[in-house]
This record gives sequence, C-alpha cells and structure tokens, in this order.
Amino acid sequence: MSNGPRTFHIRTFGCQMNEHDSERLAGLLLADGLVPAEGDATADVVVLNTCTIRENADLKLYSALGHLKAAKAARPGLQVVVAGCLAQRERGAIADRAPWVDVVVGTHNLTATPGLLARAATEGPVVAVLDAPDPEVARDATPALSAVRDVPYAAWMTIQTGCDNSCSYCIVPDVRGGEISRPLTDLVAEAELLASRGVTEVTLLGQNVNSYGRDLTGRGPLFAELLRAVGSVEGIERIRFTSPHPKDLRPETIAAMAETSAVCPQLHLPLQSGSDRMLTAMRRGYRAERYLERVAAARAAIEDLALTTDIIVGYPGETDEDFEATLEVAAAADYDSAFTFIFSPRAGTRAATLTDQFVPDEIVRERFARLKDLLDRSALAHHAARVGRREEVLVEGPSKRAVDVWSGYTRQGKLTHFPASSDVRVRPGALVAVDIEQAAPHFLRGSVAEVVRAPRHRVRIPLSVS
Ligand code: SAH
Ligand code: SF4
Ligand code: F3S
Repeated sequence: MSNGPRTFHIRTFGCQMNEHDSERLAGLLLADGLVPAEGDATADVVVLNTCTIRENADLKLYSALGHLKAAKAARPGLQVVVAGCLAQRERGAIADRAPWVDVVVGTHNLTATPGLLARAATEGPVVAVLDAPDPEVARDATPALSAVRDVPYAAWMTIQTGCDNSCSYCIVPDVRGGEISRPLTDLVAEAELLASRGVTEVTLLGQNVNSYGRDLTGRGPLFAELLRAVGSVEGIERIRFTSPHPKDLRPETIAAMAETSAVCPQLHLPLQSGSDRMLTAMRRGYRAERYLERVAAARAAIEDLALTTDIIVGYPGETDEDFEATLEVAAAADYDSAFTFIFSPRAGTRAATLTDQFVPDEIVRERFARLKDLLDRSALAHHAARVGRREEVLVEGPSKRAVDVWSGYTRQGKLTHFPASSDVRVRPGALVAVDIEQAAPHFLRGSVAEVVRAPRHRVRIPLSVS
C-alpha cells in the first residue's frame, strides 16, 4: 500500500435514499482524511451500501462479498464495510457468513462509520447496528451539508427518514425505523446553500413525503409548505420528490405543486395493485377508486402532469380477477412509466407468512409480461405525444451508448437524447430547449434548438501545463 492518504470506494445497491446516504458517507470519509479511489480494485476501504427490498438485492451483496474475499487475501490492509438496509437486517449473520468483513454498520448509525473503521483497525471486526434511530442524529444537518455529490447541478435532499406505514409486504419500516423529519428551516437553508453552489435541481426524498413534518409539529403535515419554501429559493429551478403515498396525497400538496413554478409536473404515485381486495390485504389504506380520484384531481390542477407508479405482481392470494383489476386501473391511470416488481417474500413481514397463498411462478411471469406490455404501450403513447414539441432539458452529458449523443431529462422527467452540440454552452448543467423528433418507450430523441441558460455552477478550468 502507498504512503499517501487512504482511499475509499462506495458501491450502492439501493434506492435514491441509499444513494444519498452514500454521498453523505463519502463526505464524512473525506473529512476524516480519506480520498476517493479510482475503483474498488485499488481502494483501501470498500463500502457496500446495501438494500434488502427484494431477494435479488440480498443476493447482490453476497456475490459482491465473494469477490472481496479474494481481494482481501491479496491486499491485507483492505477494510470492507457493509452498511445500509441489509446490514441493518442481518447484523451478525453477515459477520458469520463473511468473517472477513471489518465493519457492519446499520442504517441508524451510518455516520459512525469513520470511527468504526478506526476501531476495527485495532480491535478486529465490529458489528454496530442500533435497534432504533436517534432523532437527533437523523435530524443532524452536518452530513447532508458535507455530502459529496456525483454532479454539481442536481442534488438529493433527504427530508424524512423511516416510514410509519405497515404495508404487509414491505421491509422498509423494519430497517429504517419510524418517520423522522428534518426541520423545515434546515432544509431551506440546505437548498439555499446548494443553490449558491450552482445546483438547479433538487429531489426531495422520503418514504412517504406527504406526511413530512407530522412528527415535528404534532399538527398537520408540512409537505405543501416545504414545496413552496424550497420553490422560493433563488436558483432552484426544478423540484422533484419521491414518494408520496396515495392515501395521504392532500389537496394542499396538489395545490402547492400547481402553484410553485419550480415544482416539476411529475408525480410518482405507487399503486401496488388495482384490486381493492389486494389493497386491503397489503394494508395500503386506499381503494382503487380513491386512487383514481386523486390522479384526476392532480391532472386537473397540474398542467402537463407526467404520472408514474410502482406495481407489485403476484402478491399472495392474487387471483386472475385481482390481476385484471390491476390492468384496468393501470389503463385508466394512463401512466407515463412504471416500475413493476414480482412479489418477493421478506422474512419478518406479514405477507411472507402467507406461503399457502403464494402464486405459482409461471402465472406470475405471465401476468408480469401482460402488465409490462400494457405499461410499455402507454409509455410509448405518452412519448409519442411529445413529438413536435419543444421541451426544456437539463443537460447531463454524453449518453451511455455513444459519445456523440448527449442526454438529459425534461421537466416531466423523460430521458431525452440529442446530438452533441458544438456550442460550448451546451455543457452538463445547462438548460436547453430541445425539439422532440422521435419517441421510444424509454426515451425521446430530438435536437437542441436553443440554450435557455448556461450552467450555474462554476466549471473548473484545467490549468495548462506547458
Ligand atoms: N415508500 C415507497 C416505496 C419504497 S420501496 C412507497 O411507498 O412509495 C419501492 C417499491 O418496491 C414499492 O413501491 C413496491 O412496489 C416495491 N416493493 C416493496 N416491497 C416489495 C416486495 N416485498 N416484493 C416486491 N416488491 C416490493
Ligand atoms: Fe414500505 Fe409502505 Fe412504507 Fe412505502 S409506505 S416504505 S411500501 S411500508
Ligand atoms: Fe432498499 Fe433500503 Fe431503499 S431496503 S429500497 S435501500 S430504503
């Protein structure tokens, strides 16, 4: 190992909240004197930030750990950290299955990781998982303020951790604890700081953002107020959020979305099932009709709204009739796009005990394909409707497929590709107007018509070395 500063690499397996946790952890490791490594092959510290929402998330960790065992044998100074939701859930089991792991740290004390690494260096493997969150730690603004973000023009902000709901299939409340909201003034200050650094787009994160603030005030939720407050921060031009729960989507929130120009016309409203019988079994707290009423209210108030969702196929006891109801509601909701999941039993949840009602694999697969087909068709129809329009796109940079094709997202959240421009202002972080020429189910294609605004963040100009 070199004598320079120790290096770290973080691999993230989970949702956006998990990704943002990784950014916050990166900031804490930097503050502790470590520097980012090129990749996990050279890092002195490798952190696996895990997810356990479905079984395939668990499998990914164990496969990654298998690779790291060999790396650790070759590089004895390497420290391996397993953090995040699976670490919270499995605790000692990870240390038993993979005794070469140095630190297992849970979701409630991620910020303790730098200290735990130092402890493990002298004492050997440490498992540090707390049963419950400490509200003071969850509300501390410091890790968010020092987060190391992937891009300088867009940022995630966790507004609330945990979940007070008890959807029968879901492991999140077990691994993230109950809802804790960060103070509104801290969040506005953070948005101001981000804007002063040139961030134009923020995405507010929580498991049930509609109930943001309920734990702070003891009165009604504050989410609508938060949207308006962040929307009034100068420089923040786009606000997105995920996820609101359909049962708590209040008229105040819809009004705040409609009246705050920075809030993007995009709503991710997880349906899960279109069958009332399934929704009751899942303990979702709404019926299909209520869901569709809220969608109609949002569409009526918010111009050009793009609607997206999550749907689970094959929940225990799901009959053909239940599934047909899901197809019907999905057709009526007319989604722009959707994430579809096959039910995955999670030990510790109620749904996992209903083994006698599990739906056979072939039936689930057939239903999944039918649903996907319907959703792909409605996605394509929504994309086709954008052809001929001029859309504002926040430029991300070269696309994954080709360097001469760049991409970014429209205000509705649609991935858009366009030919690279010779205009130097068309840089990552710029807002450009794109004429949409072509539609595919998962992206749009067009060409840059004009630059709306050059990037706001400062771009480092490389020093020329002669
Ligand atoms: N709090 C968010 C959901 C977070 S989990 C919300 O309620 O919107 C993201 C999605 O994973 C859920 O919406 C659900 O569709 C899916 N999911 C959660 N648990 C699952 C399970 N056990 N099997 C399959 N899909 C699941
Ligand atoms: Fe899970 Fe339901 Fe909470 Fe979402 S609202 S995190 S699905 S328990
Ligand atoms: Fe996964 Fe945890 Fe997110 S279980 S989906 S990383 S909250």
